[in-house]
Amino acid sequence: MAETSQTAPDSGTEAIAAEKAAPGCHKVHPILVASNVTREFGGLKAVDVEHVEIPRGAITALIGPNGAGKTTLFNLLTGFDNPNTGAWEFDGTDLAGVPAHKVSRLGEVRTFQLTKVLGRMTVLESMKLGARHQTGEHFWAALFPFIWRSQEKANEKRALELLDRFGLLAKKDDFAGSMSGGQRKLLEMARALMCNPQLVMLDEPMAGVNPALKQSLLGHIVGLKDSGVTVLFVEHDMHMVHTIADWVIVMAEGRVVAEGTPDVVMEDPAVVDAYLGSNKDRDLGDVINGIRSSRKRKVDVSDIDIQRDEEVLDAQQEAVEAAQELGESGDSQAVVDDAADAVATDDKGKDKA
Ligand SMILES: Nc1ncnc2c1ncn2[C@@H]1O[C@H](COP(=O)(O)OP(=O)(O)O)[C@@H](O)[C@H]1O
Ligand SMILES: [Mg+2]
Repeated sequence: MAETSQTAPDSGTEAIAAEKAAPGCHKVHPILVASNVTREFGGLKAVDVEHVEIPRGAITALIGPNGAGKTTLFNLLTGFDNPNTGAWEFDGTDLAGVPAHKVSRLGEVRTFQLTKVLGRMTVLESMKLGARHQTGEHFWAALFPFIWRSQEKANEKRALELLDRFGLLAKKDDFAGSMSGGQRKLLEMARALMCNPQLVMLDEPMAGVNPALKQSLLGHIVGLKDSGVTVLFVEHDMHMVHTIADWVIVMAEGRVVAEGTPDVVMEDPAVVDAYLGSNKDRDLGDVINGIRSSRKRKVDVSDIDIQRDEEVLDAQQEAVEAAQELGESGDSQAVVDDAADAVATDDKGKDKA
């Protein structure tokens, strides 16, 4: 664990940390506690986190240079990837080895750095799919149309409420693929809320979003906290981090290298010199693009993210179509077979992810 110099904790630190702010410090009310989490890719330790705790009820920003391991850590903590070592608890429940669909059912949901165009689905269908997936409805539940239909009604009501809240109600019958990048980011956030999560993890929610929508997204993130939801987000825009984060965790080369309130961490000379440079007041996205173009990367992680999303989403679509067929035809055996196939494909997609 790299040590960074910390100035005296301010009052914000006292409310969140149970001890002096430092990498891996204990929190007063942690919602997520992870220890010795490592993930290697061909000899490279993408994640090497000795200990980290995410404070409950607060907005925590996870920052650090590109390739620091932020997305990989998200993937591990949400069951989209398996670690080489490590254990973590979400709200007191041991989550190591628990697959993504069960993690989201327990109240921990995430969004992806790159949103996938849900070409074949309308905005409303995509929202309902969020609930279906998140609540972990089993294919056999579709055998009893009365259960399925009342659940559908409740899901639709919640979906419409959330679309309204995110200013997307007028778009409910549009294909999700026809929306702008920013609107898709909003849709993704709204979709994540379909299952009433306790912790929402947002991977670069502002990437590719125009300034007007950024403002709206910012408002929604603060709104989440106001409604009691814990937020952990990855962001390169240092101005945004400073504006809304209660706590900042800095990662570099797979490790947590600094933690504290934005005022302390982002003014810490060691952090600024090593990770933020003279650009601490700028949008770090620009800086990163510079680094990216000057560095040859063997693996384009963007492609991997898109592929993974495609596999999972295609399988979800199949499951929904199978269940819909049952509602219409009542031919149980054929639909059970289809649904079982769809679920099997879904799990396969997750294993690969
Ligand atoms: N699926 C993968 N296969 C191989 N290497 C990967 C994979 N995913 C991430 N990496 C590597 O792990 C490191 C951390 O990546 P990532 O977690 O995406 O960083 P960040 O989100 O902080 O930019 C990078 O060096 C990246 O190239
Ligand atoms: Mg990333």
